[in-house]
Amino acid sequence: MLSKINTLSGYLYEYQKSIANPEDFWDSVAQQFYWRKTWDKVVDWNFDNLDVKWFINGKVNITENIFEKNLFMLGDKPAIIFEANDPNEPTVTLTYRQLYEKVSQFANVLLANGIRKGDRVAIYIPMVPEAAIAMLACARIGAIHSVVFAGFSASSLADRINDAEAKMVITSDGNYRGAKSIEVKAVVDEALETCSSVQKVIVLERTKTPVTMKEGRDIWWHDAIKGVATENKAEEMDSEDMLFILYTSGSTGKPKGVVHTTGGYMVYTAYTFRNVFQYEPQDIFWCTADVGWVTGHSYIVYGPLLNGATVVMFEGVPTYPDVDRFWDVVEKHKVTHLYTAPTAIRALMAYGTEPIQKHDLSSLKVLGSVGEPINEEAWQWYYHHVGKGNCPVVDTWWQTETGGMMMSPLAGITPTKPGYATLPLPGIQPIIVDNEGNELKGNNVEGNLCIKFPWPSMIRTTYGDHERCINTYFRSFKNLYFTGDGVKRDADGYYRILGRVDDVINVSGHRLGTAEVENAINSHPLVLESAVVGYPHDIKGQGIYAYVILDSASQNHEADKIKQSLLTTVTKVIGPIAKPDVIQIVSGLPKTRSGKIMRRILRKVAEGDVSNLGDTSTLLDPSIVDEIVSGAGLKK
Ligand code: WTA
Repeated sequence: MLSKINTLSGYLYEYQKSIANPEDFWDSVAQQFYWRKTWDKVVDWNFDNLDVKWFINGKVNITENIFEKNLFMLGDKPAIIFEANDPNEPTVTLTYRQLYEKVSQFANVLLANGIRKGDRVAIYIPMVPEAAIAMLACARIGAIHSVVFAGFSASSLADRINDAEAKMVITSDGNYRGAKSIEVKAVVDEALETCSSVQKVIVLERTKTPVTMKEGRDIWWHDAIKGVATENKAEEMDSEDMLFILYTSGSTGKPKGVVHTTGGYMVYTAYTFRNVFQYEPQDIFWCTADVGWVTGHSYIVYGPLLNGATVVMFEGVPTYPDVDRFWDVVEKHKVTHLYTAPTAIRALMAYGTEPIQKHDLSSLKVLGSVGEPINEEAWQWYYHHVGKGNCPVVDTWWQTETGGMMMSPLAGITPTKPGYATLPLPGIQPIIVDNEGNELKGNNVEGNLCIKFPWPSMIRTTYGDHERCINTYFRSFKNLYFTGDGVKRDADGYYRILGRVDDVINVSGHRLGTAEVENAINSHPLVLESAVVGYPHDIKGQGIYAYVILDSASQNHEADKIKQSLLTTVTKVIGPIAKPDVIQIVSGLPKTRSGKIMRRILRKVAEGDVSNLGDTSTLLDPSIVDEIVSGAGLKK
């Protein structure tokens, strides 16, 4: 087991050490892993042209650190407990040895189908153990996985496949989600009409939905593994070889492929998992995220398995077959650690405490929150009703780009405060700056959250476009990584994340760029222009509010029909998660004389608070504001 911090003074000591001498600090953490060859130097970095390297010239395979390093001791220990969408479907448990065999076998399948080190493999699959098996099999042979959340549309999937020039797609026939069963393979087929790089598709049978298999391209998973050896010698990877690409939304343009590399990501996700959750060998860890997001990568697959942990993998949704499903799963598998998103907590809060009381939740020790700011009410409910006041809540702030948790209490060690991610983890050096880049020192300050020193699992580039990565994260403030989040440091020096300060909205913990949603809406033939903003939403954290200007041809159609058809378009272009909650048809947008949309006004209207709209004198046509306000049913 990795060494662990046990006390608050221990944390303070480790933190100071990690700042005073980051090289020594990370050297001693990394020594606890199995490297084929150790590094020549711990870190080299330059934020100006973004060149960050950790554990330089170290040779390693992350799966050897999950399997070979652990098998002797942990062979029969459950690695993955699979809880299917249907509670009556028997639980599948894979021990470390069984998982190792499945990963090795599938690694051999990848090789037999022409995949080699450095090739990109897209994974578009539901929350089943095969998702983890496919990811780990890629890592085993040095292929780069790009997992795409299976709720994304064919066109989003195609964009991601094309950007990464993936050679293979791993998918399933269908996907169970609550009472619904969703077609998956059909979406892949549609996407592949516009993807020329893909040579092979491996299809897992999950729902037995009829699918068409393309001769020479498509193979069933169960056929592909027949007779294939369950031993595979791991590929030797350089510490800085790419481990995976994960697409995420930003303020502008299409989603970017965030690139993570092998050595640093391994060390950091494992270290943070052990310390933040204070994980012990008998614990059962359940992270409810989907493997399509970074939380699933780092804290369902890599972080826990590197620690020899047992994880629960859940295919379904919190409210199926009933609203007590989460609590049922906790009781059934004696979950000790529950790691979920505030949006799920708020959704379940709405059903009161009765569903909780039906279950014995006494196995719980630690509660985690991730993905969006947690409001005080949800925090208290989680702490008192789910945790019965006995389980520390770790509010973990981090991002796809950071690879692992950056600020969080250590469970049971750092005193918590509702709504606060509290303090930076060892190795993380936050800095708050104003809009001009001046550091805001001391406590009781609020500003832009940046990080001034590299950490092992930080983003290395955006796939295929290094300049874009530099411009997005390293040009706003000199020599700093800019997170895109606003933050407050209170009188105690505790950090509270205030949410995005850029044009990214966080809907139920899912990141969406306003520009991305606007582009989807604008692709509708009746739309001239649109502007999208986020607004506070009781359950989702933020909702999507779209202002849409229609073409004159729209006069022949009913407004409600047009709105419906806009929702269909957004679902088709991005996926159902990007559907606006409110669509307001407008005749114009509040633009300045230079043509810039004054989003501040649109946000205020979406929030329903137009008491103080600020200075509108620079608008080209100030009267448009009155139209928008009254169109929203508001009064100034
Ligand atoms: C937000 C998810 C407040 C934040 C791991 C960040 C949070 C974005 C928290 C990254 C938290 C994540 N408190 N806000 N504990 N965790 N966020 O890339 O705005 O999907 O920038 O990574 O989610 O979202 P992503």
